[in-house]
This record gives sequence, structure tokens and C-alpha cells, in this order.
Amino acid sequence: MSRIVFLNGSFLPIEEAKVPFMDRGFLFGDGVYEGVGMLDGRLIDNEAHLERLERSLGEVRIANPYSKAEWTALQEELARRNGMTEGFIYFQVTRGVAERDFFFPENAKPTVAMFTQAKAIANAPAAEKGIAVVTVPDLRWQRRDIKSINLLAQVLAKQAAKEAGAQEAWLVEDGFVTEGGSSSAFIVTKAGSIVVRPLSQAILPGITRKSLLRLSQESGIVLEERRFTVAEAYEAGEAFLTSASNFVLPVVSIDGRPVADGRPGPITTRLRQLYLQMASAPAMAAE
Ligand code: PDD
Repeated sequence: MSRIVFLNGSFLPIEEAKVPFMDRGFLFGDGVYEGVGMLDGRLIDNEAHLERLERSLGEVRIANPYSKAEWTALQEELARRNGMTEGFIYFQVTRGVAERDFFFPENAKPTVAMFTQAKAIANAPAAEKGIAVVTVPDLRWQRRDIKSINLLAQVLAKQAAKEAGAQEAWLVEDGFVTEGGSSSAFIVTKAGSIVVRPLSQAILPGITRKSLLRLSQESGIVLEERRFTVAEAYEAGEAFLTSASNFVLPVVSIDGRPVADGRPGPITTRLRQLYLQMASAPAMAAE
């Protein structure tokens, strides 16, 4: 059975899902996207992802084609049609199809595309062993708080990481880590506090980051919301990343140097467990 995707109001086999040549997403990267994780058939933090989508769309002045309830129904139906209960749902909205011209087209209808990626998140091998990251310059634009489909800088950064034998790139600006190529970046000091960069236009406001911070506060872990340097990351007690498609992943080496003893640290492991618990019982976690 081929994968079923959603395109402009229809569910159809991926081979039949075609976007017109003049779509502004294709020509200009003129669009925004979101991605939400699914565990046990449940969308994780979907409300927050849909709010971030609404915000990204507003910032680039594309009308949101659906209400939150409509988005959720489409996501759930797509997962159901693909028999997916664990993985990632990607959805994007572009400004639509028009003759190539930089100005906003007058009557274009946004293009809406959504697909599933089945994936083991809870029992991912990378969660056991941890991953390697390498640092690379952050070459992105100045509105990284918008989840734009322009991902060329991230593509280049992550490919450089792969060629260096790592699984993620940590992006660096003025000596400070901004975030990962497709994840939020954290370190844990040797004294046991979590350090994460404060929200600004320099980073994406990660939804998993937000939940993680709530969970860490609830469990009494000290939080330092401030920037950290690459040098500080090398000396950290632990390091980890968060994203909708990975939840919490230990980072065990940075630029080829082991983080502490090169194994996932206790605070990271505990936070991953807390996150998994929250994801499998969201109603209880909210009480
Ligand atoms: N990436 N920072 C960047 C640059 C990201 O692209 C992402 C997510 C995150 C983490 O945000 P969240 O916790 O809301 O997923 C941070 C997604 C997963 C992707 O592009 O595949």
C-alpha cells in the first residue's frame, strides 16, 4: 500500500499528489511548516504546534486555511489512513500558485500539504546511546522564530554534520550556540542545572523545549535560561537536544570531544523518561 498524503483538501496516494510548477513554495520557499510527534496514536502537544503555525502564518501574512479543530481532524484522519500510531506528521502551507513575481499574488489560494513519517520515537536506538553533534556557523536569516520552509542553511549544516560522522549540527553565532539544525540545544552544568538559550528571533520557539522546561521545573531541576558558548558546552556535565520528532535525545559528543564520560547523563535520562510519561499520559501530566 502506498503512503497516503493530504494535498489541498484531498487524501491521495503520494504518487498522485502533485504540486504545480509555479507554486511559490517551490520557487521562493514562500511558506511555513510544522511537525508534530505521535505516540500511541496521540498527537503530542498539538495545540501548541497549531498555535505556532498560526503565528508563523501571521508573520508572513498567509491566511490560515483551517481552524485548530479542522487541522486536528485532518491530522488524525491522515494518521489513521496510514495506520500510523508512532512517528511524525509534517504539514506545510505555501502562499500558493501564481506567475513568478516577488509581490504577493492577488488571488492565490494557499497550498496545503501534509504527510506522515512512521518512526520509532520512544524506543529509538539513538536515545540509548546518545548522538554526536558538531558545531558549524549559523548562516540563517534573522527571523528564525518563524518556521519557514527555507531550510537551505539547515540542510548544509546537517550535511556537514553527517560528513563529520555526527547526527546533528549545533549552530553557532558570536561564539554562542543558537540551536540545532532541527532541534533545540541544551547543556547541563556540572552542578546539575539546565542551560538553554532564551527565546528571541534568533531561535525557533521549540514546543518540545517548552514542555521540557515545564517538566524540569516540576521536578525541581534548576534552570538557567541564558546563552551558552561552545567552550562551555565542551565542559558541560551533560548535553541533550529536543524536537517533536525525537523528544529528548542525549548528546554524548561535541566536535569529537566526549561530553563528560561520553554516555547519556542522569538528568537527561530522567527528563527523557518524564517526557515519555507526559506524552503517553497527557491528561494526567496536566493535572
Ligand atoms: N524541527 N529548532 C529548529 C531549527 C527546528 O527545526 C526544530 C524542529 C526545533 C524543535 O522544535 P519542536 O520541539 O517544536 O519540534 C528547534 C522539526 C522537527 C523538523 O524540522 O523536522
